[in-house]
Amino acid sequence: MNTVIAIDGPAGSGKSTVARLLAERLGLSFLDTGAMYRAVTALAIRRGIDVTDEDALTSLASTVDITTTPRVIINDLDVTEEIRTSEINSTVSMVAAVAGVREAMVRRQREFAERQPRGTVVEGRDIGTVVFPQATLKVFLTAELAVRETRRAGEGSDSIASRDLLDSSRASSPLRIDADAIELDTTHLTVEQVVGEISAWLKAH
Ligand code: CDP
Repeated sequence: MNTVIAIDGPAGSGKSTVARLLAERLGLSFLDTGAMYRAVTALAIRRGIDVTDEDALTSLASTVDITTTPRVIINDLDVTEEIRTSEINSTVSMVAAVAGVREAMVRRQREFAERQPRGTVVEGRDIGTVVFPQATLKVFLTAELAVRETRRAGEGSDSIASRDLLDSSRASSPLRIDADAIELDTTHLTVEQVVGEISAWLKAH
């Protein structure tokens, strides 16, 4: 298996910023799996699909083309800005809870990593537990809710807390720390410090 660094954690724990910078420093590819679930949600809404219609969501997710870097594109549609709106924030966790949607995304995530011979930093909720159980390094980032809320100015703590609850309590691949993962509380750390810690673990690995 190619090198995979799995970065999981709740909303606003710093995953994206850290994963992106780490990938850049190490010369690895970067995969934002949250953007994939957000893109499917955006297209479902545009098509008028009910976010409780599991069959329709599964068939949509199974047939779409998605790229997340440098822009988030689904079926030739650029949804980079659209996927960050409050409408998507409040619906994405329902879409991501659908087992068929997850299967379709996980397949694409594994295929993406296979195509990156230098390796990939992958961030999400189930990367170390389900998508890449054999990952080279598994990191689980956390931070106090108040800090996560500040980092997500505009989303609001209710929305963050309700996504966290849905993501951790769903039946299919819930957010949880893998037994092999190293946990890091980023509440009082800068991005540089977090990237430094992970790089040091990687060297010691
Ligand atoms: O950036 P933030 O942590 O706020 O969220 P995100 O990574 O963009 O993910 C958005 C949503 O997608 C999460 O709240 C989860 O419901 C879902 N997701 C997931 O279920 N599994 C993943 N591997 C990544 C995201």
